[in-house]
Amino acid sequence: MKRVYIETFGCQMNVSDSERIATSLSKNGYQMTSDEADADVVILNTCSVRERAEHKLYTRVGEIRHSGRKKPVVGITGCVAQLDGETLFDKIAGVDFVMGTRATGRVVNIVDAAFTQRKRLVDLNEREDEYDWTVADTHRHSPYVAFVPIIEGCNKFCTYCIVPFSRGREKSLPATEIVAQVEKLKSSGVKEVHLIGQNVNSYRPTSNEGLDGFEGKSAFTRLLRAVAATGMDRIKFTTSFPRDFRDEIVDAIEENENLCNWVHLPVQSGSDRILERMKRGHTISRYKEKIDRIKKSHRNIALTTDIIIGFPGETEQDFEDTVSLFEYCEYDSAYIFKYSPRPGTPAYEMEDDVTPADKTLRFLKLQETQKKIEQRIHQRYLKQVLNVLVEGRSVRTENGYTGHSTCHKVVNFVSDEASLGEVRNVRITEIKSNSLFGEVAR
Ligand code: SAH
Ligand code: SF4
Ligand code: F3S
Repeated sequence: MKRVYIETFGCQMNVSDSERIATSLSKNGYQMTSDEADADVVILNTCSVRERAEHKLYTRVGEIRHSGRKKPVVGITGCVAQLDGETLFDKIAGVDFVMGTRATGRVVNIVDAAFTQRKRLVDLNEREDEYDWTVADTHRHSPYVAFVPIIEGCNKFCTYCIVPFSRGREKSLPATEIVAQVEKLKSSGVKEVHLIGQNVNSYRPTSNEGLDGFEGKSAFTRLLRAVAATGMDRIKFTTSFPRDFRDEIVDAIEENENLCNWVHLPVQSGSDRILERMKRGHTISRYKEKIDRIKKSHRNIALTTDIIIGFPGETEQDFEDTVSLFEYCEYDSAYIFKYSPRPGTPAYEMEDDVTPADKTLRFLKLQETQKKIEQRIHQRYLKQVLNVLVEGRSVRTENGYTGHSTCHKVVNFVSDEASLGEVRNVRITEIKSNSLFGEVAR
């Protein structure tokens, strides 16, 4: 049996695509391996969102080709594959096939062909009806947690972002299929689903089927209620687009215990001037109104964000506005990125005028601000009881286990083998270097 090694970069959508690729290959005569040196097929699922992510690909192909005893078939998929297509054959030596982001449903054909035809193969065809949405039933990142794509692609065209080019236009999966998948996952023992998409709250299926009878002005809110009605233990969703984030989403969370108390709402900048240049479609005052509604909730909703520092034209004042916004929002965590110009995007044409030294200074300062906020927030969790899904062993302590709370915090605690895959109430007893430690509450 031929062995396949898959390496995944980028976001949850890529993780989810890799899971589907692994599942369909393993159902069709291939075997997955975690040992790259022993692989007959190597598939790299790539990310293009920042330059550094893209560069990783170039170094990895070289390393992998020279690491093994065999000379594997090498395939590139994901966002770099979609954007660069067959030019990758010239850019990287040893690539055998290039498979676009919406061609992954045909992975078995292309890998089979790579062995029989021994020529360079490309499949970038966006035959949308053939995009594979099925949630992997094997080869998931966790047996207890499943990523369920509900919308794929992006229509927003924020000026810095490559995703609308690599992922194509938004396409939503019918609600009936989403609900059926969640029900199937539930009966197979999955305890937590993440409804995923570049912008989940832009969910807009072509038909209302499956949403009828569920309250909400937007299809996404109705979908949340429909998925909650399946009785799945825990439901998380990411990423939410701030402009389209409606208060009714918080209403739905308040009304359904299984809709988890965590919202990821990437603000990107604390300055209206920069948001305008980014074409994000929201202002800071509108964003704060949404934050106020989230913070007011009795569900104690955790809030996370993404930020780009050093966007073209960002002044010290703009940056200070971002720092102030962080103090206002008190995010539970924040992904902070230095702006990286992406060829083909509108921002690429703007002058990248914040010096690398200033980008680094601002990055470090914001990181420091966030660290202090997190320490403050973590103190509030002390003595609280969090509902934790036991996902795996924690290597650091004897009988140590680890999992995520409903508010998506990593919690470490002492437990036993039988608790794996179960939900436990854990009382937080200690905060160590920004991690939560606790004990199972009796
Ligand atoms: N759809 C999501 C984000 C998807 S990309 C949203 O709109 O919020 C994930 C994150 O990468 C973004 O939130 C942004 O912070 C970051 N990012 C995207 N393009 C970038 C670029 N050119 N340079 C630096 N960071 C970028
Ligand atoms: Fe990129 Fe904006 Fe789309 Fe998010 S919403 S994926 S940042 S273009
Ligand atoms: Fe990267 Fe593509 Fe996701 S560019 S962040 S893998 S959509």
